[in-house]
Amino acid sequence: MKSAARSKPRAGKRRRPRPFVAATFAMTVDGKLTTKNRGTVDFTSREDKLHLIKQRALGDAVLVGHTTLERDNVRLGIPHPDLRAQRIARGQPAYPIRVIVSNKGRINPSLNIFQTDFAPILIFSTTRMPRRIREQLSKRAILHLTESPQIDLRQMLRQLRAEYGVKYVACEGGPALFRSLLELRLVDQLNLTVAPFLFGGKKAPTLTGVNSDFLPHTVHCSLVHMKVIGEECFLTYQVE
Ligand SMILES: NC(=O)c1ccc[n+]([C@@H]2O[C@H](COP(=O)([O-])OP(=O)(O)OC[C@H]3O[C@@H](n4cnc5c(N)ncnc54)[C@H](OP(=O)(O)O)[C@@H]3O)[C@@H](O)[C@H]2O)c1
Repeated sequence: MKSAARSKPRAGKRRRPRPFVAATFAMTVDGKLTTKNRGTVDFTSREDKLHLIKQRALGDAVLVGHTTLERDNVRLGIPHPDLRAQRIARGQPAYPIRVIVSNKGRINPSLNIFQTDFAPILIFSTTRMPRRIREQLSKRAILHLTESPQIDLRQMLRQLRAEYGVKYVACEGGPALFRSLLELRLVDQLNLTVAPFLFGGKKAPTLTGVNSDFLPHTVHCSLVHMKVIGEECFLTYQVE
């Protein structure tokens, strides 16, 4: 098994027009990521929280869906000075670029992330974003608004690579965004923590959301690393 550290992008054979995408999640033993009302549910250890930050610290960009941003009210920083120092030693800026996706664009400008300026914030959305919100957010973030009703995630990744030099995206979900990326075969690595709880609940999202449809294709994942710390299992899959 390979190390769970930053897996090398599978370069060489063919040039990637998009960055490597590694997604990180924690789930219960019955495969739930949260409860049905998508409140903030804290069901993992300090070790897992550090694991998430370590995965984030590998990214040139960190990517989240609008609901996760809103519900968890995250700033997407790197609170550990040693991780920031490692980034600088690797030639990265101290913090990854923060990337938010939203089709509707009804993003609350008073969220915590917009009160910080330690790293650029990019918002990929559509011209459905209300004008008032657009005006407020444009003071705090760089807006990429498409006239299409939905964002083209593949194009967004290409743009991140071409315009911002992003080679590695640390995706932190949520499940709806992860599903969209999976459907487009845009996920290269899955870091999954299994935590020792069962939630139940038909409407509580699993890794692929609450959508009851099958994925358009079965996705095969190869286990490349596994580590047990306390009662949690930390898995790293290469997604094919
Ligand atoms: N356990 C874990 O590891 C973990 C990790 C992450 C999140 N979570 C939890 O998951 C819940 C949120 O997950 P979720 O699945 O409801 O939401 P999500 O994936 O975080 O966000 C969904 C929203 O993101 C935007 N979005 C998603 N896919 C898109 C696409 N292809 N193109 C453009 N925009 C897209 C849309 O925003 P608009 O509606 O604005 O158009 C969509 O409604 C929260 O409770 C959070 O705490 C758990």
